[in-house]
Amino acid sequence: MNFELSPLDLHALTQEKTDALLVLVTSAFRPSKDSVSVLIAKAVKSGDLVAKAGQVLDIYRPVGFVCTRIVLMHAGGGGTAEVRKAVTAATTLIKAANPKRVTLCLIQDQTPETVRVALTSLAEASYVYTSTKTKAEGRTIQRVTLLVQDDQKLRCVFDRAVAAIAGIELAKEWGNRPANHATPSHLAQAARALTKFPRIKCEVLGPKEVAKLGMGAFQAVAQGSDEPLRFIVLHYSGAGKASAPAVLVGKGITFDSGGISMKPAAEMDEMKFDMCGAASVLGTFRALAELQPDLNVVGLIPSCENLPSGRSLKPGDVVTSMSGQTIEVLNTDAEGRLVLCDALTYAERFKPRVVLDIATLTGACVIALGAVRSGFFSADETLSAALLAAGESSQDLCWPMPLDEDYADGLKTSFADVANVAGRAGGAITAAKFLQRFAGKCPWAHLDIAGTAWKSGAAKGATGRPVGLLVDYLLALDTRAKTT
Ligand code: BES
Ligand code: MN
Ligand code: ZN
Repeated sequence: MNFELSPLDLHALTQEKTDALLVLVTSAFRPSKDSVSVLIAKAVKSGDLVAKAGQVLDIYRPVGFVCTRIVLMHAGGGGTAEVRKAVTAATTLIKAANPKRVTLCLIQDQTPETVRVALTSLAEASYVYTSTKTKAEGRTIQRVTLLVQDDQKLRCVFDRAVAAIAGIELAKEWGNRPANHATPSHLAQAARALTKFPRIKCEVLGPKEVAKLGMGAFQAVAQGSDEPLRFIVLHYSGAGKASAPAVLVGKGITFDSGGISMKPAAEMDEMKFDMCGAASVLGTFRALAELQPDLNVVGLIPSCENLPSGRSLKPGDVVTSMSGQTIEVLNTDAEGRLVLCDALTYAERFKPRVVLDIATLTGACVIALGAVRSGFFSADETLSAALLAAGESSQDLCWPMPLDEDYADGLKTSFADVANVAGRAGGAITAAKFLQRFAGKCPWAHLDIAGTAWKSGAAKGATGRPVGLLVDYLLALDTRAKTT
């Protein structure tokens, strides 16, 4: 899908050659004398376009226009959630007609937030997964033209939205692929494929190298599976060597059966999504490839399967992490923290300015925050504020969670330095407390995306979150670096 940005000329809209002209209307709309404005004014006055977010009016072969159809979409007061509702409804509606060219027209509300959310919602609602289907037709939309009055002013936010969409779609693609089509080796290939873009390099470590590094916790999770583990290291080098990188660590469990502490059968298929943290790192690098910002980013992906077998890790086993700390594995289903802890130790060698880990880590986080906001944990106030802000600007929301030392009490054990689980209560927080022991000295945050990385039920599928948030967070680092 290609995107282009063009200046809006209301009087020229009648000549816009497109399969669908989507026009965003808000309550602030004041008609002028052009044909579209007259049409909207009539539709609102007659009540055919209800002034409520998500209401649409589909007008086929409108008289005086060369386009095939106009879809008026109401976004209520024009808030981001309302714009999303409107664009999602209109896109879902036109999808059945297999449009190739779509023109998205922002008549009045032309804020950066509207541009971002309108484009990402259109991409989201028109996305089609095809990789493992033989007869599936992909997305028919080839070109999307965004019309805004001041295209110069909005160029930057437009470029960022388009880059974020490319990243989100890559993350969705890998998230959605079934585990037998998205093994650790496949993820490594996907990472290597990113090296075709400028400034991106990739290194892939296998079982031998990982053993040599002493990543005993990561190895222990992988040992139950016949599929060999991969430790993927991505580099985006947009600044000089002296500039400390931001490190992103993505949980890459390509299937989480729970291991010997096996999960129940219902919905276990959804554990193919347990590599969505890894996919978000790949997606973020895809967006960096588009935007080419002046900063350094390292991506780390510990990837393996968590399966039961005669060689599996067992409850009660004690493993030695790369940091030297021993871990008593009381529950083999708490495997995410085991692969992440070694990656966090590995991250230290880059002397990072910041480390973020992204993981579908706990069912408890789904209970705490649902599918609306990802949870984040950080002891660093500047970092917390930046994550919250990036969530808002990208509309990929997150929310701060606590890290009080008392939450770590349940991780104490007589048989190792730390246990990998505490009780059920506060499960998302105890997981974060476990990880915190392995985070180095630089500012660190953990994002638990268990509730936001994919949707269950009829709309089952990866969301591509939190690529939008990560892109905005990193680009804010870039501008901060330039101004200080
Ligand atoms: N990948 C799961 C977390 C998960 C579960 C995400 C359900 C989304 C939906 C993780 O590896 C896991 O199994 N966590 C356990 C931890 C527990 C054993 C302390 C959980 O949340 O049940
Ligand atoms: Mn698990
Ligand atoms: Zn898991």
